[in-house]
Amino acid sequence: MKILSRLLLSTGILLFLTQSIIAQQDKSATVERGYQLMTTYCYACHNPNVTSHDQMLAPPMIMVKRHYQPNFPQRDDFINAIVSWVHHPSMEKVLMPGAVRKFKIMPPLAYPEDDLVAIAGYMFDNELDKPVMMTEMHNGADNRNQRMAEMSSLTLNDGKKWKVDHLTIETMKSVNTMVSDFSGKEVGDYRQLGKDLFAEAKKVLLDENNQGEAFEQLHAFFHGLENNMHQLMEVKTVEEGEKYKGLLEVHARLFDNYFEE
Ligand code: HEC
Repeated sequence: MKILSRLLLSTGILLFLTQSIIAQQDKSATVERGYQLMTTYCYACHNPNVTSHDQMLAPPMIMVKRHYQPNFPQRDDFINAIVSWVHHPSMEKVLMPGAVRKFKIMPPLAYPEDDLVAIAGYMFDNELDKPVMMTEMHNGADNRNQRMAEMSSLTLNDGKKWKVDHLTIETMKSVNTMVSDFSGKEVGDYRQLGKDLFAEAKKVLLDENNQGEAFEQLHAFFHGLENNMHQLMEVKTVEEGEKYKGLLEVHARLFDNYFEE
């Protein structure tokens, strides 16, 4: 009897072990498939190995992920958003307005849905290839340093403010009002504020009337603010929400020091 139960037990353990090995193999095969598909389909343009800005056809995937994850923190939502984008890119869905200005909007690509699901799942679950050109500054997980660096790269136009169009000025006013009038009390309200503010900022970056160096400066300015917006979208407590709302408010006020109509 004793022998029998030992035998059963060890068979059980063996079965369990084999199953988990198979599961692991399945998992790594899925990961491998997602990576392969991504390099085949997406790296044609989103190639992290380019060595100069001129060779760049689209932002590297790791940057795409950084913009999508705060907006779609749930895996399923993230996957749906990526699949929907690749099949039907549209201005409404754009989360990288700066990239659209620089590269033009991505063309729709008719890849099979299940391949795209594998790619998006891979993107969500894994650390993505770091572009060879990414500097230390961008690599650092420290958003705050990055933001400071971007803000401090802002300069005046020969001692004068940059000229931007009316829409930009109005949009900034509405950003400030949205922040100062905010009366939300829950974590979800702060997250929504982050999304609403982003929707406003996007208008400025997509506005074709801002061109040349003035646009570059606007872009640098909003890149800094955008980090605050992403932080708001991801807050876990009301205290965090207050903190990032405060930071955003301080940075938004800098606008008037650099830009005018
Ligand atoms: C023909 C070139 C090309 C290919 C191939 C390509 N992309 Fe893009 N993609 C772009 C460009 C250019 C942008 C930047 C402009 C924009 O955001 O639309 C971009 C931006 C994106 C964005 C951000 C969109 C936003 O919110 O602004 C996502 C997500 C994306 N690509 C996913 C993919 C995935 C996934 C693949 C592979 C299945 C892929 N792309 C293949 C050119 C390409």
